[in-house]
This record gives sequence, C-alpha cells and structure tokens, in this order.
Amino acid sequence: MTAAPPRYRLVELGHATLVERLDEALDIYVSAMGYPPGTARARRSLWLDHARRPGWRSVGWIGDGGRLLGIAYGYRGGPGQWWFEEVRRGLRAEAPERQSWLTDYFELTELHVRPDAQGGGLGEGLLRALTAGADNARVLLSTPEHRPRPPSRAWRLYRRLGFVDVLREHRFTGDTRPFAVLGRPLPLDAPATPVPGITALPPGAS
Ligand SMILES: CC(C)(COP(=O)(O)OP(=O)(O)OC[C@H]1O[C@@H](n2cnc3c(N)ncnc32)[C@H](O)[C@@H]1OP(=O)(O)O)[C@@H](O)C(=O)NCCC(=O)NCCS
Repeated sequence: MTAAPPRYRLVELGHATLVERLDEALDIYVSAMGYPPGTARARRSLWLDHARRPGWRSVGWIGDGGRLLGIAYGYRGGPGQWWFEEVRRGLRAEAPERQSWLTDYFELTELHVRPDAQGGGLGEGLLRALTAGADNARVLLSTPEHRPRPPSRAWRLYRRLGFVDVLREHRFTGDTRPFAVLGRPLPLDAPATPVPGITALPPGAS
C-alpha cells in the first residue's frame, strides 16, 4: 500500500541527527497529536533518554527543501522500563494469559506525520521501515482508545497491518485517558507495493 510520491525520501535518523532535528521532530509530534505547544518542551528529555536505549532506531520522511514530514522511533522493550512495567501491571490484572507478549518485543514508541502530509501512506512507510530493522519477535504499541469516536487513521493503519488487541482500556499512571495496547508478530506481511529504499540522514544533511 505504501507508494509515497518519489520526491519524498525515507531516511534513517541516527542519534546525532535526531538531537540536531529534535525541535522539528517534536513539532510534528505536537501538531499531529493536537497537543498544546508546551508539550514539546516536556517531551524533550524523554525522547533523548529513549534515544540511548538498546535497539533504538528512528526513521523519518524528508520532503521538499529538506523538511521533516514524519517521524517514528522505537526500541527494545524490557523490564525496568516505565512502559513495560505499566503494561505488565495491566496484563497481570486483566489478561495474565497474554503476558508472553512482553517478551522479545520492539516498542513502537512514536509515529507521527505532519497534518498536511497525512493520508497518503507516509505513516505506513514509517511503520514498515522501522519494524523491518528490528530483530525482535514482535512489535507492541499503545494508542488512545477510539471509543466512542470512530477509529482514527492510526487505528485504521494498525488494523490494516494486522495488529491485534493485547490489552484494552488500560490506564497508564498519570494519564486519565484509556489506552489500547496492540501488537503483532514480526516481520510484517509484505506490502502490496514495495516500500521505498531507506538512506541514512547524517547530521548537517537535509
Ligand atoms: C497515524 C499516522 C501516523 C498515519 O500516517 P498517514 O500517513 O496519515 O496514514 P497511512 O500511512 O496509514 O495512510 C493513510 C491513508 O493513505 C492512503 N494511502 C496509502 N498509500 C497511498 C498512496 N500511495 N497514495 C494515496 N493514498 C495512499 C490509505 O488508503 C489510507 O487511507 P485511510 O486512512 O483513509 O484508510 C498519521 O495519520 C498521524 O500522524 N496521525 C496523528 C498522530 C497519531 O495518531 N499518531 C499515532 C499515535 S499512537
């Protein structure tokens, strides 16, 4: 399904490049999620901390003029990490038979496309490129529950790519919204149309 216009480049962002383009990446996050601008400042140190975790990878789309249009990152999940412990708590209470999902997984932590670039397959390209480089048995993510609203574009994407329910209506500490934890085995099924090649984006490049 992923066949982005050829003027867009799918790139891998190393740690130094992400640091250099962090404001731009956080701006995508804030505008895609519809969060107040102050959210970016609060997320800064968290994203930098995540970028040092084992198995961390980040990919993005570069558009005309070197503008970053989308960003995704994730890393190897495991005990001691906040997200792992929160989901383990939920699974123990609600679905103990599903705790094996928390072994050997890649946590898809962030996936965002600029609002003016959404709806053209860029998100799917990011998700595919990121998970293709993960050497884990499965991928997990959490996303706000859609009920009572209809499924969002994010939900449609996850379902289209075969993500199933791991935990529903989960309450993360410090967040009043209910979340779903979704997962699927890796690798993903092959796309209907090939995913474009990915190139490294070194610091200073555009
Ligand atoms: C979720 C998100 C990353 C998905 O990225 P996206 O690029 O908008 O979406 P997709 O890659 O799934 O593509 C979506 C649409 O493009 C269409 N599409 C795919 N390839 C295409 C192509 N080559 N040409 C035209 N359209 C195409 C699909 O049919 C799909 O349509 P649909 O959503 O109406 O079913 C993005 O919408 C976003 O940032 N949303 C807000 C933030 C968010 O919710 N992030 C996830 C938090 S958990």
